[in-house]
Amino acid sequence: MPHKIDTVVFPVAGLGTRFLPATKAVPKEMLPVVDKPLIQWAVEEAAAAGCKRFVFVTAPEKDAIMKHFSDAPHYQDVLEARGKTQELALLKAGLPQDAEIIKTYQEQPLGLGHAIWCAHEATGDKAFAVILPDDMVQHPTGCLAQMAAQYQTCGGNLVAVENVPADQTHRYGVLDPGAEADGLVAVKGLVEKPAPEDAPSTLAIIGRYILAPDIMRTLSAFKKGAGGEIQITDAMAALIGQVPMNGFRFQGTRFDCGNRDGFLEANLAFAIAAAGDEERAALKQRLRPLLD
Ligand code: UTP
Repeated sequence: MPHKIDTVVFPVAGLGTRFLPATKAVPKEMLPVVDKPLIQWAVEEAAAAGCKRFVFVTAPEKDAIMKHFSDAPHYQDVLEARGKTQELALLKAGLPQDAEIIKTYQEQPLGLGHAIWCAHEATGDKAFAVILPDDMVQHPTGCLAQMAAQYQTCGGNLVAVENVPADQTHRYGVLDPGAEADGLVAVKGLVEKPAPEDAPSTLAIIGRYILAPDIMRTLSAFKKGAGGEIQITDAMAALIGQVPMNGFRFQGTRFDCGNRDGFLEANLAFAIAAAGDEERAALKQRLRPLLD
């Protein structure tokens, strides 16, 4: 039976401490890459993968995220009165027309696993996708669309993976990989944030998941892991042997926008990709002396 995904969860209740003071009043997920906030890039990626239900796990003090996807009547009236049709279209861009929006709160930032569990009423007994907006992937076919196509045949728990430098494993969930075929890596085990000497490989999970509904039962044990947080990696590890568990080597370049360097690189890469030939040449000319 094909496994189709129509629900996506965005865990966006974290503190964003690595971007202080920028994130004191503005949620990290609202920081723009070129001209769109991270969360809008994520929503567009999910829509392109066929998702229709968008679940935001947010925090009371981060309501700017929901505001971004709501109507803005005052702004709209002014733009209409001034005949600014292009700007009006940009104001309305965001969510697809037929989208169902669900908001739920994670009252305390107890970890990514806990944030995902907070969406359990919305996800019910169906498999669902998870996008962490601060991980961006640049490719003509969005990372989640690539995964959703693969998921039709593999089902279970599927995570996007890539090789990271050996000295960076402590920042990721890392795979103990089994057999590999056509970009799909069977998972024998998972370790959250291992030190390089303890890491079973350098194949790390990035912020894209498609999860079997069973994950919610496992998460509801609220077991703390690395850093005292409830980790999604531990919940997936507990299900190995009960549901299929695979890593997916996606196509594209990934940017970790949760740290300053990755965020800066993403801004450059997406700006360059959006530029025409002339604009790109001018940009290169202006940037070169800054980098020398
Ligand atoms: P991060 O691990 O980057 O944490 O979360 P963070 O709190 O956002 O940022 P730092 O490390 O303090 O700088 C990855 C994603 O998971 C969400 C975040 O909002 C982000 O989208 N998250 C994390 C939650 O929703 N709840 C949590 O308890 C932890």
